[in-house]
Amino acid sequence: MKIIKAKDYNDLSRKAANIISAQIIMKPHCVLGLATGSTPIGTYQQLVERYNGGDLDFSEVTTVNLDEYKGLPRENDQSYYYFMNEHLFSKVNIDKNRTFLPDGTEEDSAKACRDYNAVIHSVGGVDLQLLGLGHNGHIGFNEPGTVFEKETHCVSLTERTIQANRRFFASEEEVPRQAYTMGIKTIMSAHRILVVVSGEDKAEIVREAFFGPVTPAVPASILQMHNEVIVIADEAALSKCEGLY
Ligand code: GLP
Repeated sequence: MKIIKAKDYNDLSRKAANIISAQIIMKPHCVLGLATGSTPIGTYQQLVERYNGGDLDFSEVTTVNLDEYKGLPRENDQSYYYFMNEHLFSKVNIDKNRTFLPDGTEEDSAKACRDYNAVIHSVGGVDLQLLGLGHNGHIGFNEPGTVFEKETHCVSLTERTIQANRRFFASEEEVPRQAYTMGIKTIMSAHRILVVVSGEDKAEIVREAFFGPVTPAVPASILQMHNEVIVIADEAALSKCEGLY
């Protein structure tokens, strides 16, 4: 596991975008695993800038996103499809037919997950998986207590995650209670993983996840077992890891 300290959020976003850019340049037909949440927004902005500057070409890139809320149609401005479109897909020359997310409108959970696993296998796996980190150590929507062996599955969100996501919805009742997410097994099968973490409020979980014991109670801790993980965190997020890396 390589830990890269960034000065601040902007520096973190630039560094993460540099790594993703290098991946696209080295393998134009690569498969990127993408993430939502507020942390990767700056990274996507940087990628769009590099595209606008003529330095990046997304025409052969395939993307598979980590997760999607169950029950939200693509047009809902809180769906992860909408998010990806808004922050990246509509702003670069990516082929929309090669951008994949779980189908949040599929009510049959088993089918939604089976279909999404088939998509991930059919694109040949993920070259570089971008991840954010939840306050309770979740990655994608793999909440504490998750079973490491799972591929895409349907999860019930914890109260903490519902509260954390509450700010994006008009009322708490509107926050979906379930989501489809790549499982830990899916995430761990990516060739390389890039984790972005920002802010003082993540300092405690950064220490637990990357320097504590590997346990399903902190889902991100399994990343310690992957051979090619890069964590880019800003000074605030690394503030409780002095002397550990
Ligand atoms: C959500 C997403 C995760 C994301 C997490 C942290 O629950 N499903 O993939 O990493 O939030 O989000 P943020 O970056 O906003 O802290």
